[in-house]
Amino acid sequence: MPQDELIEQYRYPAALERAYVRTNFVSSLDGGVQLDGKSGGLGNADDQRLLGLLRTLADVVLVGRVTSAAEAYGGVSAAEERLAIRAKLGLAPVPPIAVVTASCAIDPQSSLFSGDVKPIILTCEAAPVQRRALLTAAGADLAICGGERVDLPTALDALEQRGLYRVICEGGPHLAGGLATADLIDEICLTLSPMLAGGDALRMLEGPVPQLTRTLSLQGVLRSDDTGHLFLRYTR
Ligand SMILES: NC(=O)c1ccc[n+]([C@@H]2O[C@H](COP(=O)([O-])OP(=O)(O)OC[C@H]3O[C@@H](n4cnc5c(N)ncnc54)[C@H](OP(=O)(O)O)[C@@H]3O)[C@@H](O)[C@H]2O)c1
Repeated sequence: MPQDELIEQYRYPAALERAYVRTNFVSSLDGGVQLDGKSGGLGNADDQRLLGLLRTLADVVLVGRVTSAAEAYGGVSAAEERLAIRAKLGLAPVPPIAVVTASCAIDPQSSLFSGDVKPIILTCEAAPVQRRALLTAAGADLAICGGERVDLPTALDALEQRGLYRVICEGGPHLAGGLATADLIDEICLTLSPMLAGGDALRMLEGPVPQLTRTLSLQGVLRSDDTGHLFLRYTR
């Protein structure tokens, strides 16, 4: 599909008054979201392209601390093509990465701090003060969003206060489980990989998630003809 049509299809709703949370996962046919502890082996080139586009359309990339470490997240850098699309959509040049963490166990020397904008750290009172101070000294924008854990509605408020409404949540499953439990997921983009993963792979929602009965509405289906990957989009 030409890029203009893809952008139209995945564009966020206009005039948002609160944060809109889109999550993006790639899953095996048997529901696993990991292969050898990462997601990459499940996707394909089109999946990577879509991942890039979803970031390009967002104000902020939201991620759990374990995924940011497992996938060695780097800060987002301003690529020329993306800059042009973002400018046309009235978005800031680069979306920051916002990491949810109660531990603040993040290395201030890590690639997370390498992008054109510094990360946002969504954390809580229980996070060790010294670690918080190190991250702040490294340039992170740190928001306290709860006591023992990060209260996810408060975390979204903190993003809104920074003008960040179009949220692309890239997981992982424990963060997504918390968002689903708090009924904060507006949209799910799911790449279905034609693979069986087996093993002990996590599935999309993990943690103490209650039984959910929310039915979502299918908005779009795309496919990679060469590999058989499907790209599904659901909204609430
Ligand atoms: N297939 C895919 O599309 C996909 C997408 C994403 C990730 N993954 C895979 O999933 C795995 C990691 O997933 P995961 O579920 O273990 O980790 P995760 O959700 O990325 O991160 C979990 C961590 O986030 C923090 N966190 C989440 N919710 C919190 C809350 N309400 N309050 C405070 N902290 C909170 C905690 O960090 P602290 O421990 O620092 O307190 C928690 O340990 C990796 O293997 C990754 O490759 C796959």
